[in-house]
Amino acid sequence: MKKILVTGAFGLVGSDLVPVLQKKYGKAHVFALGNKTITKDFDGTLVRGDVRAKETLARIVKQYKITDVYHLAGLLSVGGEKNPDLAWDVNISGLRNVLELARDYKLKVFWPSSIAAFGPTTPKQKTPQHTILEPTTIYGVTKLTGELLCQYYFNRWGVDVRSLRYPGLIGYQAPPGDGTTEYSVHIFYGLLKDGRYSCFLKKDARLPMMYIDDATRGTVALMDAPGKKISVRTSYNFAAINFTPAELVAEIKKLYSKFVCTYDPDPVKQHIAEGWPQSIDDRVARKDWGWKHEYNLSKMTKVMIAGLKKKLNL
Ligand code: SER
Repeated sequence: MKKILVTGAFGLVGSDLVPVLQKKYGKAHVFALGNKTITKDFDGTLVRGDVRAKETLARIVKQYKITDVYHLAGLLSVGGEKNPDLAWDVNISGLRNVLELARDYKLKVFWPSSIAAFGPTTPKQKTPQHTILEPTTIYGVTKLTGELLCQYYFNRWGVDVRSLRYPGLIGYQAPPGDGTTEYSVHIFYGLLKDGRYSCFLKKDARLPMMYIDDATRGTVALMDAPGKKISVRTSYNFAAINFTPAELVAEIKKLYSKFVCTYDPDPVKQHIAEGWPQSIDDRVARKDWGWKHEYNLSKMTKVMIAGLKKKLNL
C-alpha cells in the first residue's frame, strides 16, 4: 500500500490535493506536512517540519514508511521577489532534499514547475514543450533549476520524479497565494465581499490558467501513468484555459451585472506577467498520458462563486 507524504499540504495546491489523495488512498495513508501554515480544522494525519531540514524529512520517511512524495512546498513569484534568498533556499534546498531521499529510499516524487520557467524570450503564443527557457524572476529561476535537477536525478539514479508546469491555478479552498496569476482568485473575494475589485494587472494581461480540480486530477493522472509513457523528465507543459482580466470580468458580469472592476496595475506584478506566455501547447502531455481539461472559463467562474459563497458563509 502506498504511503504518501505531501509537503506544502496547506498551500495553494495542497489544500485541494490532500483531500483527493485521502479519498484515493485513505486518510491513514496520507501524511500532510505543515510548517508555518496549518489549517485549524484539518481532518487527516498531520506531520510537522521544514522541507529544508533533511534529517526531519528522513525521519518522517523512515517512521511512516513513505513510498510517494508530492513535494508542493515553495514560494511563488511575488513572494519570491520579496525574499529571493528564501525562495532559493525553500524551492531548491527543499527539492534537493526530497530528491536525495527519493534516491536513497526509492520514493516516487511529484514536483510542480510553472509557466514561470519561461521568460520574455520564449514564444508567447502556444508555447511549445521544448523552447527557450530564460526566466527572469527568482521563482522562475528556481523552477527551471528544479526541472533540470529532476531530469538529472532520473537520468543518473533512476529516480521516478514527474512534473507539470502549472499555469495560474484558481481554487477557493486555500486563501490566494503571493503570485501574479492570483488576481483571478482575489477577484472572487472582492466580488462576494464588496461587489468590486481593484485589479493589480492590466485588463489585457492574458495568462494561461486552470481550475484547481483539473490541476489535481491531472497531477494524479500523471503519477498513475505507466513509466514508459513518460517521455518528459524535466516538466510537462500543462494547459487548460487562458484569459485576460477583462474577459474574466465580462464572465462574472453575466452573473453579477453590477460588479465593478477597476485597474491599478502593480509595476512588479505587471512586469512578471508580461514575461510569461499567454497560451501553452500541451500536446505532449495529452498524447503521452491522456491529459484533458474539463473546466472552461464559464464553468470555472460558476464553481468559484458557488464554492467561495459556501466557504465564506454568504
Ligand atoms: N501562480 C503562480 C504565480 O503567479 C504561477 O506559477 O506565482
